Amino acid sequence: MKKVALVTGAKGGIGSAITKGLVEEGYRVVAAFSPGNEACAQDWFAENNYTADQVRMLALDVTDTEMCKSALLQLTQEEGSVDVLVNNAGITRDSVFKRMEANQWTDVINTNLNSLFNVTQPLFAAMCEKGNGRIINISSVNGVKGQFGQANYSAAKAGMIGFTKALAFEGAKSGTTVNAIAPGYTATPMVEAIRPEVLESIKAEIPMKRLATPEEIAGAVIYLASDVGGYITGETLSLNGGLYMQ
Ligand code: CAA
Repeated sequence: MKKVALVTGAKGGIGSAITKGLVEEGYRVVAAFSPGNEACAQDWFAENNYTADQVRMLALDVTDTEMCKSALLQLTQEEGSVDVLVNNAGITRDSVFKRMEANQWTDVINTNLNSLFNVTQPLFAAMCEKGNGRIINISSVNGVKGQFGQANYSAAKAGMIGFTKALAFEGAKSGTTVNAIAPGYTATPMVEAIRPEVLESIKAEIPMKRLATPEEIAGAVIYLASDVGGYITGETLSLNGGLYMQ
């Protein structure tokens, strides 16, 4: 029986690599994507040559508490269990704070932080009951160090780390681990959207002088999801090319 992993934001830059990595490791992956993107989701599924046994697509608005509750309770019934949850969905709405609009704040907090409640809460009790669950939250180096123009994003990503530590206490007795990964700047459409001259100045600050690859981030997810990752919980694993060393 394959272990089941739910990945939110599965079609995105890091999400695609996580999905591919987990499929290669033999997981059945439930790939969640935002409703309204069905055609694009089907193209992504076909381009990656997934089979229905490897990947199940799930339209899920991670900002919608009620939709998440009903869809994920149903998913657990249909799949038997969800063994691994990767909270990866995230957006940026960068702006200097003095010009930040209220919706730039709330959109980022809803998608990047409130989604953790919406997606994790309907699954958590069953994961603990089964034991040995894995919850992996994709935070960011900018949630750890802060970043100019990202008061909203840094607040949400830092909040994910607090959530990770708190929930780790609640999962520990059942062997359910809760960890965060804090990627640095990674070669994805999100980072490629930064103005070229700004991105160049960011790259210049990275000791390794390059972006992470999505596969490097996926590798950390696979480790934390694995059986040998079973004694690490409440941690934030940094993969940032030396940009911020704690
Ligand atoms: N530190 C201090 N001052 C800075 C600065 C910095 N890092 N960056 C810019 N400034 C200064 C500028 O020099 C400028 O000063 P002057 O007005 O005196 O000339 C002022 O702040 C305004 O800067 P911009 O011209 O850049 O302002 P803007 O409104 O055009 O753009 C911004 C603002 C969109 C936030 C832009 O600065 C930006 O894109 N910054 C990068 C933000 C970033 O790192 N985003 C990451 C996205 S990817 C991601 O989030 C994934 C992940 O997890 C890592």
